[in-house]
Amino acid sequence: MTISAKLLAQLTDKTLVMEAAFVGGVWKGIDEISSVLEVRNPSTGDILASIPSVGLDDIRSAINAAKDAQVKWAAESAKERAAVLSNLFRLVLANAEDLAIILTSEMGKPIAEARGEIAYGASYIEWYAEEAKRVYGDTIPGHQADKRIMVIKQPVGVVAGIAPWNFPNAMVTRKVAPALAAGCAIVFKPAAETPLSSIALAILAERAGLPKGLFSVLPTMRASEFGEEICRNPIVKKLTFTGSTEVGRLLMAQGAQKVMKLSLELGGNAPFIVFGDADLDAAVEGAMISKFRNAGQTCVCANRIYAQSSIYDEFVSKLAERVKGLQVADGFSEGTSIGPLINQKAVDKLSAHVEDALSKGARVVVGGRQHERGGTFVQPTVLADVRADMKVAREETFAPLAPVFRFETVDEVIKLANDTEFGLAAYFFANDLRNVWKVTEALEYGMVGVNTGLISTEVAPFGGVKQSGFGREGSKYGLDDYLSLKYVCLGNMAA
Ligand code: SIN
Repeated sequence: MTISAKLLAQLTDKTLVMEAAFVGGVWKGIDEISSVLEVRNPSTGDILASIPSVGLDDIRSAINAAKDAQVKWAAESAKERAAVLSNLFRLVLANAEDLAIILTSEMGKPIAEARGEIAYGASYIEWYAEEAKRVYGDTIPGHQADKRIMVIKQPVGVVAGIAPWNFPNAMVTRKVAPALAAGCAIVFKPAAETPLSSIALAILAERAGLPKGLFSVLPTMRASEFGEEICRNPIVKKLTFTGSTEVGRLLMAQGAQKVMKLSLELGGNAPFIVFGDADLDAAVEGAMISKFRNAGQTCVCANRIYAQSSIYDEFVSKLAERVKGLQVADGFSEGTSIGPLINQKAVDKLSAHVEDALSKGARVVVGGRQHERGGTFVQPTVLADVRADMKVAREETFAPLAPVFRFETVDEVIKLANDTEFGLAAYFFANDLRNVWKVTEALEYGMVGVNTGLISTEVAPFGGVKQSGFGREGSKYGLDDYLSLKYVCLGNMAA
């Protein structure tokens, strides 16, 4: 066993960390699966655990087990499925501190944010435990006197889930909970960087009484093999994927062979607009949350900040003051607001964006250099005088970089904000009600935050338009992605 002694010492329940994959209801350790995946703490580089990296045989056996388990699960009453999810919700809350410690250890985010993520992740389980009982159908007046028409909703069957590393807990629950609530089974591939949170959730799901085979956790370094198999295997009826647009496109093309049902939550390039009539302090607060949450590593993070000319200098200076106060440190240190980035590639992308902007005339207001801590710690940065021809305008930085663009008119900023292939989240701060409505309608995004920088909640539909994907997670709409509609026509009824 190579589980980090330091990690274990922090946990109340040490059995929540396991060096095993959960394959069709069976825990398989490294002695049974030869390939090993090392999980490291991005803050220190230390190895946290060595877990098995599953191959094709295990992926297939998880899919086969899911098929059998799903049929029985779908035949249970919604109330019975809800009860298991409610048990899981309670267990997640009861083990919240341990789950947060595991999360910060493998992903690096500050422990306060990790605690927030556990509560956020649990809220999806609670929500879908409730929604499981509300999968209502419809009756439709028949088109002929002897016809009666009904619409019923049925689980799509076996689902595959693929999640990124930035929300190692909540990304799992927002896929697994609606799938199980709908009566589906799910084979799940966590990110190679952060599998321990999914493994801990599977341990709790087992304790909650979830029947074997319904939820497999399949960590693997061979992501493309997993993708190809789920897109080819006729048992898998749907894929729910969160990740890059590039990989989303590939999976969509592969899934086209069997016309697979998909939900894709892909990249973003969120505009954050501050109008001249906005409450500037509230706008700065909103920008701090939207931009610097999770060190800028969320798909809904503000990527381009547009400030109207009349308030540009004041906004930049207020934002800079706040950014100067951010504390960059290990996620477990008291008062940390920015942990390490996930890896060196992320640091390189940030540096490339800063260098490109500076070479084209932008100016550093705060930060802009490597952080003295080294590793993947970076300085939170504010750039001013940013223009549309710079990389930061087109690409998602996914790091704590706040580039501030200047604009003059409402129509101009709407055009700038929409000038991207992405359409996940957008934000703006304004007080004129007519402007608020006009901008809300004009923004080509799946989610719009008005006078707020934080929009994520289990009660609302999370998802994008354009090349940010389709499908929704959370809310009553989130269940539809795991259900098929069946229209039933009863003929020859007495007129
Ligand atoms: C994401 O980064 O895709 C998820 C962020 C969130 O749920 O707020």
